[in-house]
Amino acid sequence: MNHPFYVETPIKFDENTGLGNCEKPALERRYSNMKNMYLDEEARAGKEAAGDDLIYNFYELGVPEKEGELAYGTSIVYPGKVGNEYHMTNGHFHTILDTAEIYYCQAGHGVMMMESPEGDVLYKEMKKGEAVYVPGRYAHRSINVSETETLITFYVFRADAGHDYGSIKEKGFRKLVVEEEGSWKVIDNPRWNG
Ligand SMILES: [Fe+2]
Repeated sequence: MNHPFYVETPIKFDENTGLGNCEKPALERRYSNMKNMYLDEEARAGKEAAGDDLIYNFYELGVPEKEGELAYGTSIVYPGKVGNEYHMTNGHFHTILDTAEIYYCQAGHGVMMMESPEGDVLYKEMKKGEAVYVPGRYAHRSINVSETETLITFYVFRADAGHDYGSIKEKGFRKLVVEEEGSWKVIDNPRWNG
């Protein structure tokens, strides 16, 4: 088989890091990379000053962004909170807006937060062994709602879909996921800037 992304070696999934074939993450985000993304900016700045730990990273095999290909990898969100807001990814729309995506929860406990440009909000809890189907047109963000466990999800989507982070950075999501009395809760984002 002569296809650059058909590999003879097995594509392994590592219990702790997600995709096992990658030596290093394709991208990582620390407190210093997420200025103004959390409601409590003072708490975020404090965590940046106190060691600037990793919030999330992801691993992928670099499938080219070509029509017909499937991009896939694993996203890893480490447990923790900024104020009472759980660790999360920046979140994005796809540049080809009407592009769906599958996330399969390999480990941990999370929430997938989704919203359409028109303001329809969906959120779905993800536990180990469960998948979430993110419909086309919905921005999506993974949130780790466990106090102790790392959230590892496997994702796959059309490789030419692209990522649009800009509108989320400017406006945020309409809803936030926070800890209240030991469990997760969805609240309105008081800073949402539509
Ligand atoms: Fe996506």
